[in-house]
Amino acid sequence: MRSRAGRTLLSSGPPHPQEGVQRDTGVTTVTDVRPLSRQSSPGVHQADVDGPADAGVLRTLFHSEQGGHEQVVLCQDRASGLKAVIAIHSTALGPALGGTRFHPYADAVEHHQRPEEAAVLDALNLARGMTYKNALAGLDHGGGKAVIIGDPEKAKSEELLLAYGRAVASLGGRYVTACDVGTYVQDMDVISRECRWTTGRSPANGGAGDSSVLTAYGVFQGMRASAQHLWGAPTLRGRTVGIAGVGKVGHLLVGHLLEDGARVVITDVRPESVARVRAAHPEVLVAPDTAALIRTEGMDMYAPCALGGALDDDTVPALTAKAVCGAANNQLAHPGVEKDLADRGILYAPDYVVNAGGVIQVADELQGFDFARAKAKAGKIFDTTAEIFRRADADGVPPAAAADRIAEQRIAGREPSHDPSAGRSAAGR
Ligand SMILES: NC(=O)c1ccc[n+]([C@@H]2O[C@H](COP(=O)([O-])OP(=O)(O)OC[C@H]3O[C@@H](n4cnc5c(N)ncnc54)[C@H](O)[C@@H]3O)[C@@H](O)[C@H]2O)c1
Repeated sequence: MRSRAGRTLLSSGPPHPQEGVQRDTGVTTVTDVRPLSRQSSPGVHQADVDGPADAGVLRTLFHSEQGGHEQVVLCQDRASGLKAVIAIHSTALGPALGGTRFHPYADAVEHHQRPEEAAVLDALNLARGMTYKNALAGLDHGGGKAVIIGDPEKAKSEELLLAYGRAVASLGGRYVTACDVGTYVQDMDVISRECRWTTGRSPANGGAGDSSVLTAYGVFQGMRASAQHLWGAPTLRGRTVGIAGVGKVGHLLVGHLLEDGARVVITDVRPESVARVRAAHPEVLVAPDTAALIRTEGMDMYAPCALGGALDDDTVPALTAKAVCGAANNQLAHPGVEKDLADRGILYAPDYVVNAGGVIQVADELQGFDFARAKAKAGKIFDTTAEIFRRADADGVPPAAAADRIAEQRIAGREPSHDPSAGRSAAGR
Protein backbone atom coordinates (compact mmCIF):
# COMPACT_ATOMS: atom_id res chain seq x y z
CA MET A 1 0.00 0.00 0.00
CA ARG A 2 1.35 3.40 -0.90
CA SER A 3 2.27 5.32 2.23
CA ARG A 4 0.21 8.39 2.98
CA ALA A 5 2.30 9.00 6.05
CA GLY A 6 4.71 11.71 7.04
CA ARG A 7 5.55 15.08 5.80
CA THR A 8 4.53 14.93 2.19
CA LEU A 9 1.90 12.23 1.93
CA LEU A 10 -0.88 13.42 4.19
CA SER A 11 -3.16 15.25 1.79
CA SER A 12 -5.97 12.70 1.44
CA GLY A 13 -7.51 9.95 3.48
CA PRO A 14 -10.06 7.21 3.96
CA PRO A 15 -13.78 7.97 4.37
CA HIS A 16 -14.50 9.74 7.63
CA PRO A 17 -16.74 8.16 10.20
CA GLN A 18 -18.15 11.56 11.14
CA GLU A 19 -21.33 12.80 9.51
CA GLY A 20 -21.12 16.10 7.71
CA VAL A 21 -17.37 16.15 7.20
CA GLN A 22 -16.35 18.01 4.08
CA ARG A 23 -14.00 15.92 1.99
CA ASP A 24 -12.32 18.58 -0.11
CA THR A 25 -8.70 18.90 0.93
CA GLY A 26 -5.71 20.93 -0.06
CA VAL A 27 -7.67 24.17 0.25
CA THR A 28 -6.29 27.25 1.94
CA THR A 29 -9.21 29.35 3.11
CA VAL A 30 -8.61 33.02 3.87
CA THR A 31 -11.50 34.82 5.55
CA ASP A 32 -11.62 38.64 5.77
CA VAL A 33 -7.89 39.10 5.94
CA ARG A 34 -6.72 42.69 5.73
CA PRO A 35 -3.20 43.99 5.37
CA LEU A 36 -1.28 43.51 8.57
CA SER A 37 0.78 46.67 8.19
CA ARG A 38 -1.53 48.86 6.07
CA GLN A 39 -5.16 49.76 6.63
CA SER A 40 -5.88 51.09 3.13
CA SER A 41 -7.63 48.26 1.33
CA PRO A 42 -9.42 45.05 2.26
CA GLY A 43 -8.31 41.63 1.12
CA VAL A 44 -4.89 40.07 1.02
CA HIS A 45 -2.37 42.78 0.18
CA GLN A 46 0.22 41.71 -2.35
CA ALA A 47 3.01 43.44 -0.47
CA ASP A 48 2.11 41.48 2.65
CA VAL A 49 2.02 38.17 0.82
CA ASP A 50 5.36 38.87 -0.82
CA GLY A 51 6.98 40.52 2.20
CA PRO A 52 9.71 38.64 3.98
CA ALA A 53 7.66 37.83 7.07
CA ASP A 54 4.59 36.36 5.39
CA ALA A 55 6.70 34.69 2.73
CA GLY A 56 8.23 32.76 5.64
CA VAL A 57 4.81 31.47 6.63
CA LEU A 58 3.89 30.54 3.07
CA ARG A 59 7.24 28.83 2.56
CA THR A 60 6.64 26.84 5.71
CA LEU A 61 3.16 25.88 4.60
CA PHE A 62 3.81 24.90 1.02
CA HIS A 63 7.49 24.03 0.71
CA SER A 64 9.17 23.06 3.99
CA GLU A 65 9.31 19.65 5.63
CA GLN A 66 7.29 21.14 8.50
CA GLY A 67 4.45 22.01 6.11
CA GLY A 68 2.19 19.87 3.98
CA HIS A 69 -0.91 20.96 5.87
CA GLU A 70 -4.27 20.25 4.26
CA GLN A 71 -5.87 23.55 5.19
CA VAL A 72 -5.19 26.75 7.10
CA VAL A 73 -8.02 29.11 7.98
CA LEU A 74 -7.60 32.71 9.13
CA CYS A 75 -10.68 33.94 11.00
CA GLN A 76 -11.66 37.44 11.99
CA ASP A 77 -14.66 38.94 13.74
CA ARG A 78 -14.13 42.65 14.14
CA ALA A 79 -17.12 43.17 16.46
CA SER A 80 -15.66 40.89 19.14
CA GLY A 81 -11.99 41.37 18.25
CA LEU A 82 -11.49 37.72 17.27
CA LYS A 83 -8.37 36.94 15.30
CA ALA A 84 -7.72 33.23 15.02
CA VAL A 85 -5.81 30.69 12.98
CA ILE A 86 -7.10 27.15 12.49
CA ALA A 87 -4.56 24.74 11.02
CA ILE A 88 -5.57 21.28 9.79
CA HIS A 89 -2.47 19.22 9.17
CA SER A 90 -4.06 15.88 8.31
CA THR A 91 -7.42 14.14 8.25
CA ALA A 92 -5.91 10.86 7.05
CA LEU A 93 -6.99 8.93 10.17
CA GLY A 94 -10.21 10.92 10.76
CA PRO A 95 -11.40 14.43 11.64
CA ALA A 96 -8.53 16.66 12.80
CA LEU A 97 -8.56 16.98 16.60
CA GLY A 98 -6.57 19.46 18.70
CA GLY A 99 -6.98 22.27 21.20
CA THR A 100 -7.35 26.02 20.90
CA ARG A 101 -4.47 28.09 22.29
CA PHE A 102 -5.29 31.67 23.42
CA HIS A 103 -2.03 33.61 23.43
CA PRO A 104 -0.88 37.18 22.64
CA TYR A 105 2.39 36.28 20.83
CA ALA A 106 3.63 39.62 22.18
CA ASP A 107 7.27 38.48 22.29
CA ALA A 108 7.27 37.79 18.53
CA VAL A 109 8.88 41.19 17.88
CA GLU A 110 12.02 40.00 19.68
CA HIS A 111 12.35 37.43 16.88
CA HIS A 112 11.62 40.06 14.19
CA GLN A 113 8.16 38.61 13.63
CA ARG A 114 4.71 40.10 13.87
CA PRO A 115 2.40 38.39 16.40
CA GLU A 116 0.15 37.20 13.57
CA GLU A 117 3.04 35.50 11.83
CA ALA A 118 4.21 33.85 15.04
CA ALA A 119 0.64 32.67 15.63
CA VAL A 120 0.36 31.06 12.19
CA LEU A 121 3.71 29.31 12.59
CA ASP A 122 2.70 28.09 16.06
CA ALA A 123 -0.60 26.76 14.70
CA LEU A 124 1.20 24.96 11.86
CA ASN A 125 3.70 23.33 14.23
CA LEU A 126 1.10 22.39 16.81
CA ALA A 127 -1.29 20.95 14.20
CA ARG A 128 1.43 18.79 12.70
CA GLY A 129 2.31 17.54 16.16
CA MET A 130 -1.33 16.56 16.71
CA THR A 131 -1.29 14.31 13.64
CA TYR A 132 1.55 12.32 15.14
CA LYS A 133 0.16 12.46 18.68
CA ASN A 134 -3.28 11.21 17.68
CA ALA A 135 -1.76 8.46 15.56
CA LEU A 136 0.44 7.18 18.40
CA ALA A 137 -2.40 7.48 20.91
CA GLY A 138 -4.32 5.01 18.75
CA LEU A 139 -7.09 7.51 17.97
CA ASP A 140 -9.10 7.64 14.74
CA HIS A 141 -8.34 11.33 14.39
CA GLY A 142 -6.05 13.43 12.28
CA GLY A 143 -4.18 16.48 13.53
CA GLY A 144 -5.28 20.09 13.84
CA LYS A 145 -4.81 23.02 16.16
CA ALA A 146 -6.07 26.57 16.50
CA VAL A 147 -4.73 29.72 18.08
CA ILE A 148 -6.68 32.79 19.10
CA ILE A 149 -4.37 35.80 19.08
CA GLY A 150 -4.68 37.96 22.19
CA ASP A 151 -4.19 38.09 25.92
CA PRO A 152 -6.85 35.76 27.32
CA GLU A 153 -7.01 37.81 30.53
CA LYS A 154 -8.04 40.92 28.57
CA ALA A 155 -9.41 39.82 25.19
CA LYS A 156 -11.59 36.83 26.07
CA SER A 157 -15.35 37.48 25.97
CA GLU A 158 -18.49 35.48 25.34
CA GLU A 159 -18.97 37.26 21.99
CA LEU A 160 -15.44 36.38 20.91
CA LEU A 161 -15.81 32.72 21.87
CA LEU A 162 -19.17 32.46 20.08
CA ALA A 163 -17.64 34.02 16.96
CA TYR A 164 -14.80 31.52 17.22
CA GLY A 165 -17.36 28.70 17.55
CA ARG A 166 -18.98 29.83 14.31
CA ALA A 167 -15.58 29.80 12.61
CA VAL A 168 -14.90 26.22 13.73
CA ALA A 169 -18.44 25.15 12.77
CA SER A 170 -17.90 26.55 9.27
CA LEU A 171 -15.41 23.71 8.71
CA GLY A 172 -18.25 21.20 9.02
CA GLY A 173 -16.42 18.75 11.27
CA ARG A 174 -13.04 18.65 9.55
CA TYR A 175 -11.65 20.17 12.78
CA VAL A 176 -12.77 19.31 16.33
CA THR A 177 -11.64 21.77 18.99
CA ALA A 178 -10.77 21.45 22.68
CA CYS A 179 -8.82 23.26 25.43
CA ASP A 180 -5.17 24.26 25.31
CA VAL A 181 -3.06 26.91 27.05
CA GLY A 182 -5.29 29.89 27.78
CA THR A 183 -8.62 28.11 27.23
CA TYR A 184 -10.71 26.21 29.75
CA VAL A 185 -13.72 23.90 29.93
CA GLN A 186 -16.02 26.90 30.52
CA ASP A 187 -14.78 28.36 27.22
CA MET A 188 -15.58 25.10 25.43
CA ASP A 189 -19.09 25.23 26.89
CA VAL A 190 -19.56 28.64 25.28
CA ILE A 191 -17.98 27.60 21.96
CA SER A 192 -20.18 24.48 21.86
CA ARG A 193 -23.29 26.70 21.74
CA GLU A 194 -22.27 27.57 18.17
CA CYS A 195 -20.30 24.48 17.24
CA ARG A 196 -21.10 20.80 17.79
CA TRP A 197 -17.50 19.87 16.97
CA THR A 198 -16.34 20.96 20.42
CA THR A 199 -15.01 18.67 23.12
CA GLY A 200 -13.38 19.20 26.52
CA ARG A 201 -16.65 20.65 27.86
CA SER A 202 -17.72 20.69 31.50
CA PRO A 203 -19.51 17.65 32.96
CA ALA A 204 -22.61 19.84 33.44
CA ASN A 205 -22.68 20.25 29.66
CA GLY A 206 -22.13 16.58 28.87
CA GLY A 207 -18.36 16.90 28.73
CA ALA A 208 -15.45 15.11 30.35
CA GLY A 209 -14.16 18.14 32.24
CA ASP A 210 -10.55 19.17 32.63
CA SER A 211 -8.35 17.19 30.23
CA SER A 212 -5.31 17.92 32.39
CA VAL A 213 -6.32 15.01 34.65
CA LEU A 214 -5.47 12.30 32.13
CA THR A 215 -2.66 14.37 30.59
CA ALA A 216 -0.86 14.34 33.92
CA TYR A 217 -1.66 10.64 34.36
CA GLY A 218 -0.24 9.88 30.90
CA VAL A 219 2.96 11.87 31.51
CA PHE A 220 3.39 9.94 34.74
CA GLN A 221 3.08 6.68 32.74
CA GLY A 222 5.80 7.97 30.39
CA MET A 223 7.99 8.72 33.41
CA ARG A 224 7.45 5.19 34.75
CA ALA A 225 8.45 3.74 31.36
CA SER A 226 11.53 6.00 31.31
CA ALA A 227 12.46 4.84 34.81
CA GLN A 228 12.07 1.22 33.78
CA HIS A 229 14.27 1.75 30.74
CA LEU A 230 16.99 3.56 32.69
CA TRP A 231 16.90 1.93 36.11
CA GLY A 232 15.10 -1.37 35.59
CA ALA A 233 11.91 -0.68 37.58
CA PRO A 234 8.79 1.31 36.60
CA THR A 235 8.85 3.68 39.55
CA LEU A 236 10.19 7.11 40.52
CA ARG A 237 10.57 6.07 44.15
CA GLY A 238 13.65 7.74 45.63
CA ARG A 239 14.28 9.77 42.44
CA THR A 240 14.37 13.56 42.15
CA VAL A 241 12.09 15.05 39.50
CA GLY A 242 12.08 18.73 38.45
CA ILE A 243 8.92 20.26 36.99
CA ALA A 244 9.01 23.58 35.11
CA GLY A 245 5.45 24.94 35.02
CA VAL A 246 2.95 23.82 37.63
CA GLY A 247 -0.26 24.92 35.95
CA LYS A 248 -3.17 22.63 35.09
CA VAL A 249 -0.98 19.61 34.24
CA GLY A 250 2.15 20.28 36.28
CA HIS A 251 0.42 20.54 39.63
CA LEU A 252 -1.40 17.22 39.09
CA LEU A 253 1.86 15.59 38.07
CA VAL A 254 3.33 16.65 41.42
CA GLY A 255 0.64 14.57 43.15
CA HIS A 256 1.36 11.42 41.11
CA LEU A 257 5.10 11.72 41.74
CA LEU A 258 4.78 12.25 45.48
CA GLU A 259 2.43 9.30 45.73
CA ASP A 260 5.02 7.19 43.92
CA GLY A 261 7.70 8.22 46.43
CA ALA A 262 9.67 10.77 44.37
CA ARG A 263 11.27 14.02 45.56
CA VAL A 264 9.87 16.95 43.58
CA VAL A 265 11.40 20.34 42.74
CA ILE A 266 9.19 22.89 40.95
CA THR A 267 9.40 26.30 39.36
CA ASP A 268 6.87 28.61 37.71
CA VAL A 269 6.84 32.21 36.52
CA ARG A 270 3.54 32.70 38.36
CA PRO A 271 4.04 32.84 42.13
CA GLU A 272 0.39 31.83 42.68
CA SER A 273 0.97 28.55 40.79
CA VAL A 274 3.90 27.74 43.09
CA ALA A 275 1.92 28.76 46.16
CA ARG A 276 -0.96 26.44 45.22
CA VAL A 277 1.39 23.43 45.01
CA ARG A 278 3.19 24.35 48.22
CA ALA A 279 -0.11 24.74 50.06
CA ALA A 280 -1.14 21.20 49.08
CA HIS A 281 2.34 19.65 49.34
CA PRO A 282 4.68 21.58 51.69
CA GLU A 283 7.45 19.01 51.14
CA VAL A 284 7.93 20.13 47.51
CA LEU A 285 11.11 22.17 46.90
CA VAL A 286 11.13 25.33 44.77
CA ALA A 287 13.79 26.51 42.30
CA PRO A 288 13.90 30.26 41.53
CA ASP A 289 13.52 29.75 37.78
CA THR A 290 13.85 27.18 35.00
CA ALA A 291 17.54 27.96 34.44
CA ALA A 292 18.23 27.06 38.07
CA LEU A 293 15.92 24.05 38.03
CA ILE A 294 17.63 22.32 35.12
CA ARG A 295 21.02 22.71 36.86
CA THR A 296 19.82 21.17 40.15
CA GLU A 297 22.41 18.72 41.48
CA GLY A 298 21.14 15.14 41.70
CA MET A 299 18.18 15.66 39.38
CA ASP A 300 17.08 12.35 37.84
CA MET A 301 14.26 13.48 35.57
CA TYR A 302 13.20 16.84 34.14
CA ALA A 303 9.58 17.56 33.19
CA PRO A 304 8.97 20.64 31.02
CA CYS A 305 5.31 21.49 31.66
CA ALA A 306 5.10 25.14 30.51
CA LEU A 307 5.34 26.32 26.89
CA GLY A 308 7.22 24.79 23.93
CA GLY A 309 10.92 25.07 23.01
CA ALA A 310 12.14 24.06 26.48
CA LEU A 311 15.00 21.96 25.06
CA ASP A 312 17.45 24.08 23.07
CA ASP A 313 21.16 24.69 22.54
CA ASP A 314 21.47 26.41 25.93
CA THR A 315 19.41 24.06 28.08
CA VAL A 316 20.55 20.66 26.78
CA PRO A 317 24.25 21.12 27.74
CA ALA A 318 23.19 22.40 31.17
CA LEU A 319 20.76 19.60 32.08
CA THR A 320 21.75 17.53 35.09
CA ALA A 321 18.83 15.11 34.62
CA LYS A 322 19.29 11.69 33.01
CA ALA A 323 15.84 11.77 31.43
CA VAL A 324 13.35 14.31 30.10
CA CYS A 325 9.63 13.54 30.22
CA GLY A 326 7.07 16.32 30.42
CA ALA A 327 3.73 17.65 29.23
CA ALA A 328 4.73 20.69 27.18
CA ASN A 329 4.12 20.46 23.45
CA ASN A 330 6.99 20.91 20.99
CA GLN A 331 9.75 20.73 23.59
CA LEU A 332 12.54 20.33 21.00
CA ALA A 333 13.40 23.88 19.92
CA HIS A 334 14.70 22.72 16.54
CA PRO A 335 15.50 19.51 14.67
CA GLY A 336 18.74 18.03 15.97
CA VAL A 337 18.08 18.67 19.66
CA GLU A 338 16.90 15.08 20.05
CA LYS A 339 20.34 13.93 18.85
CA ASP A 340 22.10 16.35 21.23
CA LEU A 341 20.13 14.79 24.08
CA ALA A 342 21.03 11.27 22.94
CA ASP A 343 24.70 12.25 22.57
CA ARG A 344 24.69 13.42 26.18
CA GLY A 345 23.11 10.12 27.25
CA ILE A 346 19.86 11.81 28.26
CA LEU A 347 16.76 9.69 27.60
CA TYR A 348 14.04 11.77 25.95
CA ALA A 349 10.43 10.57 26.12
CA PRO A 350 8.81 12.28 23.10
CA ASP A 351 6.43 14.99 24.28
CA TYR A 352 3.60 14.16 21.95
CA VAL A 353 3.60 10.54 23.09
CA VAL A 354 3.55 11.11 26.83
CA ASN A 355 1.18 14.09 26.85
CA ALA A 356 -1.56 12.31 24.86
CA GLY A 357 -3.73 11.59 27.92
CA GLY A 358 -5.68 14.81 27.43
CA VAL A 359 -6.47 14.18 23.80
CA ILE A 360 -7.44 10.60 24.65
CA GLN A 361 -9.87 12.05 27.20
CA VAL A 362 -11.44 14.59 24.84
CA ALA A 363 -11.66 12.04 22.00
CA ASP A 364 -13.51 9.70 24.35
CA GLU A 365 -15.95 12.52 25.17
CA LEU A 366 -17.08 12.53 21.53
CA GLN A 367 -18.54 9.04 22.15
CA GLY A 368 -20.10 9.91 25.53
CA PHE A 369 -17.40 10.12 28.17
CA ASP A 370 -16.42 7.03 30.14
CA PHE A 371 -13.57 7.89 32.56
CA ALA A 372 -12.53 4.26 33.17
CA ARG A 373 -12.33 3.58 29.42
CA ALA A 374 -10.31 6.76 28.79
CA LYS A 375 -7.97 6.12 31.74
CA ALA A 376 -7.30 2.57 30.52
CA LYS A 377 -6.37 3.95 27.11
CA ALA A 378 -4.13 6.64 28.67
CA GLY A 379 -2.47 3.88 30.70
CA LYS A 380 -1.21 2.40 27.43
CA ILE A 381 1.13 5.39 27.16
CA PHE A 382 3.42 3.30 29.39
CA ASP A 383 3.56 0.51 26.76
CA THR A 384 3.87 2.92 23.84
CA THR A 385 6.75 4.80 25.47
CA ALA A 386 8.53 1.56 26.36
CA GLU A 387 8.09 0.33 22.79
CA ILE A 388 9.55 3.56 21.43
CA PHE A 389 12.66 3.21 23.60
CA ARG A 390 13.09 -0.40 22.41
CA ARG A 391 12.62 0.61 18.77
CA ALA A 392 15.09 3.49 19.21
CA ASP A 393 17.71 1.11 20.59
CA ALA A 394 17.04 -1.44 17.86
CA ASP A 395 17.18 1.11 15.03
CA GLY A 396 20.04 3.15 16.53
CA VAL A 397 18.03 6.39 16.40
CA PRO A 398 16.85 8.84 19.08
CA PRO A 399 13.43 8.05 20.62
CA ALA A 400 11.87 11.05 18.86
CA ALA A 401 12.78 9.55 15.49
CA ALA A 402 11.55 6.11 16.54
CA ALA A 403 8.22 7.62 17.64
CA ASP A 404 7.82 9.40 14.30
CA ARG A 405 8.44 6.13 12.46
CA ILE A 406 5.82 4.26 14.47
CA ALA A 407 3.29 7.09 14.01
CA GLU A 408 3.94 7.21 10.27
CA GLN A 409 3.46 3.45 10.08
CA ARG A 410 0.03 3.77 11.64
CA ILE A 411 -0.93 6.65 9.39
CA ALA A 412 0.12 4.53 6.45
CA GLY A 413 -2.39 1.90 7.54
CA ARG A 414 -0.03 -0.42 9.35
CA GLU A 415 -1.00 0.18 12.94
CA PRO A 416 1.64 -1.17 15.34
CA SER A 417 0.14 -3.01 18.29
CA HIS A 418 0.30 -1.57 21.83
CA ASP A 419 1.17 -5.09 22.92
CA PRO A 420 4.96 -5.27 22.47
CA SER A 421 4.79 -9.09 22.44
CA ALA A 422 2.76 -8.82 19.23
CA GLY A 423 5.78 -7.18 17.56
CA ARG A 424 4.98 -5.80 14.14
CA SER A 425 2.47 -8.54 13.38
CA ALA A 426 -0.40 -6.03 13.51
CA ALA A 427 0.88 -4.57 10.25
CA GLY A 428 -1.74 -4.28 7.59
CA ARG A 429 -4.75 -4.01 9.88
N1 LIG B 1 -3.82 20.66 29.64
C1 LIG B 1 -3.69 19.58 28.87
O1 LIG B 1 -4.53 18.67 28.90
C2 LIG B 1 -2.49 19.45 27.97
C3 LIG B 1 -2.45 18.37 27.11
C4 LIG B 1 -1.32 18.18 26.31
C5 LIG B 1 -0.28 19.09 26.38
N2 LIG B 1 -0.36 20.14 27.22
C6 LIG B 1 0.77 21.06 27.22
O2 LIG B 1 1.34 21.07 28.53
C7 LIG B 1 1.82 22.39 28.82
C8 LIG B 1 1.15 22.87 30.09
O3 LIG B 1 -0.26 22.87 29.90
P1 LIG B 1 -1.23 23.36 31.05
O4 LIG B 1 -2.59 23.00 30.61
O5 LIG B 1 -0.75 22.89 32.37
O6 LIG B 1 -1.05 24.95 30.93
P2 LIG B 1 -1.21 26.04 32.06
O7 LIG B 1 -1.27 27.35 31.39
O8 LIG B 1 -2.29 25.67 33.02
O9 LIG B 1 0.17 25.92 32.88
C9 LIG B 1 1.38 26.35 32.38
C10 LIG B 1 2.18 26.86 33.56
O10 LIG B 1 3.49 27.16 33.10
C11 LIG B 1 3.88 28.39 33.70
N3 LIG B 1 4.93 28.97 32.87
C12 LIG B 1 4.80 29.68 31.73
N4 LIG B 1 6.02 30.04 31.27
C13 LIG B 1 6.92 29.54 32.14
C14 LIG B 1 8.34 29.58 32.21
N5 LIG B 1 9.06 30.20 31.27
N6 LIG B 1 8.94 28.97 33.25
C15 LIG B 1 8.21 28.34 34.21
N7 LIG B 1 6.86 28.27 34.18
C16 LIG B 1 6.23 28.87 33.17
C17 LIG B 1 2.61 29.19 33.79
O11 LIG B 1 2.71 30.23 34.73
C18 LIG B 1 1.59 28.12 34.17
O12 LIG B 1 1.47 27.99 35.57
C19 LIG B 1 1.52 23.22 27.57
O13 LIG B 1 2.64 23.20 26.73
C20 LIG B 1 0.38 22.47 26.92
O14 LIG B 1 0.34 22.70 25.54
C21 LIG B 1 -1.43 20.34 28.03
